[in-house]
Amino acid sequence: MAGTGVFSEILDGDVYKYYAEGEWKRSSSGKSVAIINPTTRKTQYKVQACTQEEVNMVMETAKSAQKSWAKTPLWRRAEFLHKAAAILKEHKAPIAECLVKEIAKPAKDSVTEVVRSGDLVSYCAEEGVRILGEGKFLVSDSFPGNERNKYCLTSKIPIGVVLAIPPFNYPVNLAVSKIAPALIAGNSIVLKPPTQGAVAALHMVNCFHLAGFPRGLISCVTGRGSEIGDFLTMHPGVNCISFTGGDTGIAISKKAGMVPLQMELGGKDACIVLEDADLDLVAANVIKGGFSYSGQRCTAVKVILVMESVADALVEKVKARVAKLTVGPPEENCDITPVVSESSSNYIEGLVKDAKQKGATFCQEYRREGNLIWPLLLDNVRPDMRIAWEEPFGPVLPVIRISSVEEGIHHCNASNFGLQGCVFTRDINKAMLISDAMETGTVQINSAPARGPDHFPFQGIKDSGIGSQGITNSINMMTKVKTTVINLPTPSYTMG
Ligand code: G3H
Repeated sequence: MAGTGVFSEILDGDVYKYYAEGEWKRSSSGKSVAIINPTTRKTQYKVQACTQEEVNMVMETAKSAQKSWAKTPLWRRAEFLHKAAAILKEHKAPIAECLVKEIAKPAKDSVTEVVRSGDLVSYCAEEGVRILGEGKFLVSDSFPGNERNKYCLTSKIPIGVVLAIPPFNYPVNLAVSKIAPALIAGNSIVLKPPTQGAVAALHMVNCFHLAGFPRGLISCVTGRGSEIGDFLTMHPGVNCISFTGGDTGIAISKKAGMVPLQMELGGKDACIVLEDADLDLVAANVIKGGFSYSGQRCTAVKVILVMESVADALVEKVKARVAKLTVGPPEENCDITPVVSESSSNYIEGLVKDAKQKGATFCQEYRREGNLIWPLLLDNVRPDMRIAWEEPFGPVLPVIRISSVEEGIHHCNASNFGLQGCVFTRDINKAMLISDAMETGTVQINSAPARGPDHFPFQGIKDSGIGSQGITNSINMMTKVKTTVINLPTPSYTMG
C-alpha cells in the first residue's frame, strides 16, 4: 500500500515529504499542496510546498554530488541503476496504486507504466555503458593542408545538473526517462514532478534512494509552479532541462538561457486513411490510439483524415468498437476513466460544444459526469471547428473526410504541432511518400502513433518540441563533447 512498508519514511502525518540531501524532509514553509483524485474529486494526497530557499539548497547539493558521481566508474553507475530498476519493479503495486488515485490511470496500465519504467532504467544502464564507454579518434591528415601530427581523442562528459520536469500522464515513466540517462551519463538530477502524479513520483524516487545512490545526487522538490516553477527553470545552477508537458514548455524555452533543452509539448497526431487500407486494422488502432488512457497521451490519434470513399465504412467500424468501451473508475480497469481535472473536462466540453454548434455529426450522445467523459466520435468535422486543430487530451476524436491524399497531408502540416502521425495503406510506396511529406517527428505506417519502445528516437517538430528523446538520444543530449588533441613533434604514420 502507498506510504507504508519501505515507503513509510516518505510520509509525515498525511503529507508526503520531499527528497533532498539523501533524506526525506518537511518543507520549512509548513504548507502543503493538495492532490485531487480525478474520480472522487476529493483530496487524495498532500505534498510539501517547497520554498525557493529549499530549491537553492537542492541545487547546491546537486552540484557538489555531481562532481564525485562523475568520477564514479561507469560500470558502478550502471550497477546502481540496475538495482533501482529491480526495486522499482518489486514495488510496482503501491506505485501503481498512486497512479490510479492521482491521475485515474486504469489499474492494469498503471502497473504497466511502472514495469516499463524499470525496463527503461535497466536498458539505459546497458546502453550507457556501451555508448559512453567509447569515443572517437581522428587524425589530422584527413583535412587538407595537414600532416599526421595531431591525434584527436573525443569523449562524452557529463553536463552537470539536469532538471527533469515530467507531465501528469506518465509521472513515473517520463520521470525515469530523464533520470536514468542523466545519471548514467554522470549527471545529478533535480526532479520537479507534476502535482497530479507527485506521490507516485516520490515513491519512485524512494526506490532510487533504497538503491543507495550517493547523498544529494537525486533530489525531488514538490510545490506550486507559481512559487518554484520559474525559479527552478531559470536557476543558474541548472545545466540542462528535460521537460514534457504542454505549452508551458514554450515559456520555459524563452526564459531558460544558455542550457540544452529537451522538450516534448504535445501533438495533434493525424491518422491518414487511404482507400486501400485494411479498415479493421485502422479501427482497432483508432480505438487504441485515440481512446487509451482516455486520450490523455501526447501521441494519441487526435484527428482521423479519411478518404471519403471509405469514410462511412470506417466510421461504422469505429462506432461499433466505441460501443464496447467500458466507462468508469480506474480501479475497475475501465477503458475510459475520468480525465485528470475539472478544468481539463471543461476544456474538452468547450471543444465538443463548438463542434456541435458548427454542425459536426455526433456518433454518440455527449455525456459527462464530473470528470468522466464518455468516448465520443465526431464525424464530418471541418477545419473551422476548434477540434480540428486543438488537442482535447480527452476521449473525443474528430473525423475529417478528405477527397485526396494531398488534402490530408495539407491538414496535417497546417497544424502548429508536429509530433507523430500515421498512415494506413497496403501500398508501401505510397506510405513512404506520405511519410516523407508529413511534417512530424515520426510517422507510423499501419499502426497508431506511440513513443515506445522506449529506446526508439522520439521527437516533435514545430510546437511539439525541441531535441530528440529515446534512451540513446537522451544520454547523448545530457553529455558534452570533450576533445583532447595530442600534438606530435613530427608526423607519424603507423606501419610507415
Ligand atoms: O504523453 C506523451 C507520451 O510521451 C506518450 O507516450 O506513446 O507511450 O503513450 P506513449
